[in-house]
Amino acid sequence: MYHEKVEKNISVMGILIAVAISFGGLSQIIPLMFQAEAIEPTPGVKPYPALQLAGRDIYIREGCYNCHSQMIRTLRFETERYGHYSLAGESVYDRPFQWGSKRTGPDIARVGGRYSDDWHRAHLINPRDVVPESNMPAYSWLLDAEVDGAQITTHMKALQTIGDPYTDEEIAGAAAAVAGKTEMDAVIAYLQGLGKHAPRLGAASVAAAESAP
Ligand code: HEC
Repeated sequence: MYHEKVEKNISVMGILIAVAISFGGLSQIIPLMFQAEAIEPTPGVKPYPALQLAGRDIYIREGCYNCHSQMIRTLRFETERYGHYSLAGESVYDRPFQWGSKRTGPDIARVGGRYSDDWHRAHLINPRDVVPESNMPAYSWLLDAEVDGAQITTHMKALQTIGDPYTDEEIAGAAAAVAGKTEMDAVIAYLQGLGKHAPRLGAASVAAAESAP
């Protein structure tokens, strides 16, 4: 009898259909909510040192993320170009994370160590000096501004409050670590640290990938 009532009343049936479908969604979403709490940093990944953290703030301020993603997908052509695909554990201290999807320029999740500091300096002052066809804007004013030690100390304290494992000594030494550094130095330090603790695509895993059907 209930069955007949439900079948003849479209609103009740609509609600019951929505409830039935939501079980499918919840069974996927709820495990993820608990997993997010449990993501461990990839070995070697630590909260950003003062200068790199300052560089990251400038990266966000200047909107570099509008053209650069920091997330390598698991597709073969991506891992061959950039290196090991990105893992959640690499970004545990990124607040907010910089994964993105807009790639006017290349993904830079693994750019650390790929170029010298001098290359980055020349590139940021005028990209066309090193990559003639580049349409990346110049950021030469980063040379003129110094990093604010007090601000970076406050930032690190805030991150410590929400759980990033900074030691009190690291925070006490933050202002000294950035003293006399320009915003250019900070951005370069940040770029050179990107992907440093990424798993390497070793010869064995490359061979396995190649022999896979
Ligand atoms: C309007 C888009 C745009 C913006 C904004 C932008 N870039 Fe770029 N970027 C590019 C393009 C295009 C390239 C590739 C050509 C080149 O190397 O200059 C590039 C290349 C790079 C590279 C070299 C990557 C590699 O693997 O060769 C780095 C590093 C970089 N950008 C950093 C930055 C930083 C830091 C900022 C912000 C201060 C920034 N970009 C802002 C477009 C952009």
